Amino acid sequence: MKIIVVGTGFVGLPHAAVLAEYGHEVHAYDIDTKRIAAYQTGDAETIERYVNEPGLVAAIQETKDRYLFFTSDITDVVEGTDLFFFCLNTPPNRDGSTDLSYYLNAGHTVAGLLAKRQDKKRVVLVNKSTVPIGTARVLENVMKEHNVENFGVASNPEFLAQGNAIDGSRKPDRVVIGADTEEDFQIIRRIYAQFVNHVRIRYLETTPETAESIKYVANNLLLTYISYWNGVGARLAETFPNIHMEDLKIGVTSDNRISTWGSYVSNGAGGSCFGKDIQSMIYQLNQAGRRTDLLQAVYNINEYQKTYLVDRAVHEAGFNFNQKSVALLGLAFKKRTNDMRDSAALKVVESLLAKGVREIRAYDPLAAAAAQSYWFNPEKNHLFDRIKYFDSAKEAISGSEAVYVSTDWEEFRGLSHTINTTVQPPYLVIDGRRMIPDFQTLVDRGYDFLPVGGVFLPGKQ
Ligand SMILES: NC(=O)c1ccc[n+]([C@@H]2O[C@H](COP(=O)([O-])OP(=O)(O)OC[C@H]3O[C@@H](n4cnc5c(N)ncnc54)[C@H](O)[C@@H]3O)[C@@H](O)[C@H]2O)c1
Repeated sequence: MKIIVVGTGFVGLPHAAVLAEYGHEVHAYDIDTKRIAAYQTGDAETIERYVNEPGLVAAIQETKDRYLFFTSDITDVVEGTDLFFFCLNTPPNRDGSTDLSYYLNAGHTVAGLLAKRQDKKRVVLVNKSTVPIGTARVLENVMKEHNVENFGVASNPEFLAQGNAIDGSRKPDRVVIGADTEEDFQIIRRIYAQFVNHVRIRYLETTPETAESIKYVANNLLLTYISYWNGVGARLAETFPNIHMEDLKIGVTSDNRISTWGSYVSNGAGGSCFGKDIQSMIYQLNQAGRRTDLLQAVYNINEYQKTYLVDRAVHEAGFNFNQKSVALLGLAFKKRTNDMRDSAALKVVESLLAKGVREIRAYDPLAAAAAQSYWFNPEKNHLFDRIKYFDSAKEAISGSEAVYVSTDWEEFRGLSHTINTTVQPPYLVIDGRRMIPDFQTLVDRGYDFLPVGGVFLPGKQ
């Protein structure tokens, strides 16, 4: 099959690479010419500056120029294409609604080119972006506006988790296709032939509107579950003495109706999707005159969780952040990615700066460059000058008066040793991810310890 993937970010690039692995002719298209030039180099470091996913570079190197082609102009490629996958960014507007401008711009570009094509064979426009319910119809109307002939629209929501995008695309737990006609289902089945009759992967065919809804309901349910653990399970263990968070988790999730995923309490769930998808669902339902109390509560709990530990440090540990130096370990929204979007670290930084810290000594194994060049751009706010970047946890901790662990990078599990050998008590350790299993050794040596999902433990004198 000849495929054009429109938008080559965190979703589009892995998707294009995996489709190419299956022997399709894949043209990965993006208006960002720098990004396309970077992908064309085939060089790991250059590609990973944009999307850093385990296995991605190998998949690109294996297929590039044979099955996989990168382009920022599809004018000459459109002829003979069977499918388009739309993988555009759909960020939130201020009011929670979805900004569809990138998506619609791409839609108009594709429609303009399809209207001029010579071959009139069936072409299916498949959406992978997370979009409001009814967007497949919007795209259909864009095509009609341009007098495109013989096309179908479909919804194929993306469920991949960043940090696992390639494996997730190779072995998804389900593939959901919403389309209108048997002809379109058939074309899409040829793309996903390996999954259609798979013994473990559910291949679901439904309406476009149902497919669009599945994405929202699934994502919001995951965030609800995470927030249940953060807002209820963790809160109990932080409030009453002698509750062991890990035992609480095991005891509850041993019930096979209750998932273990999402029971790992943290300083809030970040990433580009959770926040915007729940806001979008709230907006869509409110527009239709419906109440959204549960969704609103979940959203609030998750946002509050991102700065909650800074407040606890003040109120429970009696720590005064004013003019202090604080190490911040982990900037990405989770391990194994360089993605900073909606990361808890952003809120932590804002909160620390608002409390008057002298400096923030940041370390992240992958995301420092992304943070430096975009999120913490000093031109946006001179207070961001107070953030210094370091190449190791040890360097970041050195000379600080407190450390805040914000991302679950595995290497942080060894932090107690690093802390012990780098800084002296009085010193406050804030563990936003429960990454320090041997915290008791720190407390015994006089370090104060404040974990999510546990009571504050003052260092022994
Ligand atoms: N990131 C995730 O983990 C994830 C998971 C599931 C679903 N999604 C959804 O998938 C969609 C894409 O997310 P993402 O994280 O890949 O976004 P992204 O910002 O990483 O990538 C979007 C890409 O589209 C390109 N683009 C913008 N306008 C274009 C145009 N007119 N023509 C061609 N290319 C254009 C951008 O340059 C960018 O490279 C979103 O709707 C998101 O909600 C994301």
